[in-house]
This record gives sequence, C-alpha cells and structure tokens, in this order.
Amino acid sequence: MRYITIALAKGRLAQNTMDLLEKIGITCDEIRDKSSRKLIFVNEELKLQFFLAKANDVPTYVEYGAADIGFVGKDTILEEGRKMYEVLDLGFGKCRMCVAGPEAASDLLHHGELIRVATKYPNIAKDYFYNKKHQTVEIIKLNGSIELAPIVGLSEVIVDIVETGSTLRENGLVILEEICNISARMVVNEVSMKMEHERISKLIKDLKKLIRTVGQDENN
Ligand code: PRP
Repeated sequence: MRYITIALAKGRLAQNTMDLLEKIGITCDEIRDKSSRKLIFVNEELKLQFFLAKANDVPTYVEYGAADIGFVGKDTILEEGRKMYEVLDLGFGKCRMCVAGPEAASDLLHHGELIRVATKYPNIAKDYFYNKKHQTVEIIKLNGSIELAPIVGLSEVIVDIVETGSTLRENGLVILEEICNISARMVVNEVSMKMEHERISKLIKDLKKLIRTVGQDENN
C-alpha cells in the first residue's frame, strides 16, 4: 500500500483539521509538537503522511499531485484557481469575503466609479468587480493588515475576510457588500481520486458522517 499524502494549511486550520481526523481514528502525534522543525509527519499504520504548508501553496501541491489531499480555506481555493476536486465543506473556519470600507464609500460602489481596491485576494476582487459588478477598478495587492489601506488613503475600499467583524468595527469601517461565504474545505488531486478511490472515498464518507453528527449536536 502506498502512502497517501495530506497537505494542511499551517495554523488554526491544521489544528482543527487534526481534531476532526482524530475523531475518525486518524492520528498523528508528531504534528502536534509545535517545537518540532520536522516537515513531514507519518502515520505508519495507516500509511498516511502529512505536511504543513503556507495556505496559498496547498492548492499547488494538490494540483501537481505532490499531495493527494489538501485541507485549506475556500478563500485560498478561489484565489489560487487550481485544478482539483473540492469534495467537502468541513464546517469550521466560517467567515465571509466582503467589500469593506468607510460608510461613505458605499456610493462609489453604486455608481461604477473607478476606485482603488486593496486586498490580499486580487483574483477574487478582480472576478467580483469585473465579472459580477462590471465595474472597472484598480486592484492594489497587499499582504496583511488590509484594513489600514482605506484609513491611510491607499484605497477607497478593501476586499477581505470578515470573521467576527471586530477589526472593521475597531477601525471605523463597515461591510459594504458581501461576496461569498468561506469555510475550511477538503480538496483532492484529480488523478489520486481515481487511483486511490477506495481509501479517499472512505475518508470523505467518515468525515461527512462526523460533520453531520457535530452539526446535529450543535443544533440541539
Ligand atoms: C484576518 C482578516 C481581517 C481579520 C478579520 O486577518 O484579514 O483582518 O482577520 O477578522 P475579524 O472579523 O474577526 O476581526 P489576519 O488576522 O489573518 O491578519 P492579516 O490581515 O494581517 O493577514
């Protein structure tokens, strides 16, 4: 039996994913050890190997088949636009992709003006403004603390993820338009899906069942 390789987006998403996997009997103690500098973690018994990668790189590993499976946010999937199967919504890491800015910027979105949009997600922003709203904008790529941009006058609005909304609130910004819902997803390489169909389908089935149970518990 060959190893199935799983790529996880570093950080909270990886921890939450490992919590889910543990509940269906897939464990990997080594990956929990934060002091370790190891890059690959193995579960010999189940012939699985795991690695942590920057979120944006997870779809790349999966498309090329260097990872059979990936766990990553929908925001990254949309931004990277890689060829792979998105097979499951894991139900955590929920947030919204939004256009935000000062209240006064709302008018600029309704009159098709040429505005500047700062974002970590240039492809999502381009798709939204060009293909959905048919508004020509200037996209300015930033790498973090996006909320700063309209405050210091770099852009009129931003496209960013909003979770609790507190970053916007504390900086005098509001949601102007919602683009889509985001959450953590499982993705699979197209060839692996065929070659390792049995093992991967079983994993999807077990996770689906678990997520359904967790969802039911939350509703009761
Ligand atoms: C994300 C996002 C917002 C914030 C939203 O930033 O870019 O800034 O979280 O969360 P909230 O609605 O709960 O306030 P992150 O913490 O990843 O940092 P970054 O912007 O520097 O990438």
